[in-house]
Amino acid sequence: MDRYAVFGHPIKHSKSPLIHARFAEQTGQQLSYEAILAPLDGFTESVDQFRSAGGQGANVTLPFKQQAAALCDSLSERARLAGAVNTLHWQGDKLCGDNTDGEGLVRDLLKHKVALAGKRVLVLGAGGAVRGVIPELMAAQVGELVIANRTAAKARELAALFHHLGQVQGGGFDEVQGAFDLIINGTSASLSAALPPLKPEMLADGGCCYDMAYGDKPTVFQLWAADAGADVNLAGLGMLVEQAAVSFEIWRGVSPSTDEVYDLLMAQLGEAK
Ligand code: ATR
Repeated sequence: MDRYAVFGHPIKHSKSPLIHARFAEQTGQQLSYEAILAPLDGFTESVDQFRSAGGQGANVTLPFKQQAAALCDSLSERARLAGAVNTLHWQGDKLCGDNTDGEGLVRDLLKHKVALAGKRVLVLGAGGAVRGVIPELMAAQVGELVIANRTAAKARELAALFHHLGQVQGGGFDEVQGAFDLIINGTSASLSAALPPLKPEMLADGGCCYDMAYGDKPTVFQLWAADAGADVNLAGLGMLVEQAAVSFEIWRGVSPSTDEVYDLLMAQLGEAK
């Protein structure tokens, strides 16, 4: 049976094995998918072992996405731009890397009828998670992208990196001007129930909000978005399922249905409450 896996540290709570098992069942694909805890100083060895044992492809999660990019023999353009890889596959001896996070986010937004083309988009945060999704947001023809971060210099650096893709600016939260059609929270602040300093007027009338994080309850950012009157108010579970679907398509050449898996995970989150 073809073997796939997700590498991370920690990895115990990864939903990827469940997601890919459902995708395989739906599409009648014979494969196994396991979670592998790679030692913090042993990612390369873990991947090599997996390949030697017949591994066909893998996902990579925190904290190894940048290391995975460095390990690959070839990278997709979006993975090169993101400087991070979440999807590996082998072509013979050649290790190929892609990054499906941005496409996962864009698919989830479009699925919920959140338009991107020509829109003003504010992205909060300038870490690895944000860097990973900017190439695809720009490819979706966003009109203007503003990156705001607690450490303003990091937002400016990131904006400079993506300048050639279109209208991208970066700075501190206090430099943000005007209203946005879409605000995406890519900070890790939600995880500690913290909120970047946002003002309701940053969200345009009919504007939408997306938290790349998710939990069993609405995140603090989602609560802010509801108060600010967001038209569509989403969290990152949809992105998780969509990015997995893109990986599955890369490996197997078939498109699974994401709705059924999303509903299953939502129900599980509900039970965990
Ligand atoms: P990730 O891989 O999740 O992107 P990261 O690279 O460590 O993790 O980046 C975390 C991001 O969340 C950064 O943009 C960080 O801001 P700084 O660059 O100023 O550190 C942001 N962040 C974390 N906690 C935050 C908080 N309480 N308020 C605002 N921003 C926060």
